[in-house]
Amino acid sequence: MIKDNSTPYAILKGEFDLLVDEPMMNYTSFKIGGPADLLAMPEDKAELKHLVKKARQFGIPVTLLGGGTNILVSDKGIRGLVIITTKLKSKIKFLNKEHDTSLDRRSIVADAGESLSKVCRFAIDNNLSGLEFAAGIPGTLGGAITMNAGTKSGDMSSVVKSVEVLDIDSFTLSTIDGNLLNFSYRHLDLSGIIVSAAITLKKGNHKKIEQTFKENLNRKITGQPLAKANAGCFFKNPVTDKTAGELIDKSGLKGFKINDAMVSKKHGNFIVNLGNARCRDILLLKKQIQQKVFAKFNIKLETEVRIKGE
Ligand code: EPU
Repeated sequence: MIKDNSTPYAILKGEFDLLVDEPMMNYTSFKIGGPADLLAMPEDKAELKHLVKKARQFGIPVTLLGGGTNILVSDKGIRGLVIITTKLKSKIKFLNKEHDTSLDRRSIVADAGESLSKVCRFAIDNNLSGLEFAAGIPGTLGGAITMNAGTKSGDMSSVVKSVEVLDIDSFTLSTIDGNLLNFSYRHLDLSGIIVSAAITLKKGNHKKIEQTFKENLNRKITGQPLAKANAGCFFKNPVTDKTAGELIDKSGLKGFKINDAMVSKKHGNFIVNLGNARCRDILLLKKQIQQKVFAKFNIKLETEVRIKGE
């Protein structure tokens, strides 16, 4: 596609100095995924806007990714342009006090590519409570909001004050109030690209905030296979009294594997890549897990990890 210099792909590549046939396994925590035709890592909003506009004008499909921590990319890779937002970041800042609704609240603003852990650190260092649930959640702020990332003790919907969104048809930036955002379990219904977000937190006691954060992080380190390549919890928790991890565990599936794709021995709702797992292996394993859990409990597990690519 790039060989002929007159194709839209070649023109886009030349104009933005894009990577070609870049292996997506290098950009995902699962360490899985074939090549992206073109890959860009814009460093500011203007570059992102320009890229999206040009790609859309040329009819080149655009896939947006943050930290790649909750996705599974197909072995054939992703056609078109992949935009990774991890370089889209500037200093995390306080919003002017007039934006705060009460004296015990304080709002901060960060770009979408900022890592969620840095936003958490900023909150702890400034004695702000509300993000303790996010301890140890990997990925970017934009990704976390897009997924409504969370745990039993909270999710992003409870802290988002507003998002700044790039409209992919008009290419304009606008701010959407958090109250108008349609969040649900591990989902945000939004078209457009989040480029920055404001978060409102509550003033609190430093020691207490840090302590809760540490406890949550330790629980994650103890209970989840973080040392192995994974994409977080693979399935959504069903609406029953049992979690996906428990159902998979009780189906005797821990340690069950297909090639290098294995159900974690530590936590049933994690699939780990032991080294050379391919997307195909993960999908076969997913199917077997769903079938076994359905046969035993009559419950259909739904995938939380988002599948991308051809
Ligand atoms: N359990 C088992 N066997 C297992 C795993 C869990 O019996 O193999 C049992 C546990 O003993 C516990 C219950 O299941 O009684 C819940 O387990 P856990 O505390 O690990 O919580 P979870 O519901 O499996 C959720 C989130 C995680 C988040 C933890 C933190 C979902 C799908 N998962 O897991 O989020 O880290 O709470 O408490 O909402 C993610 O979203 O990627 C993710 C990992």
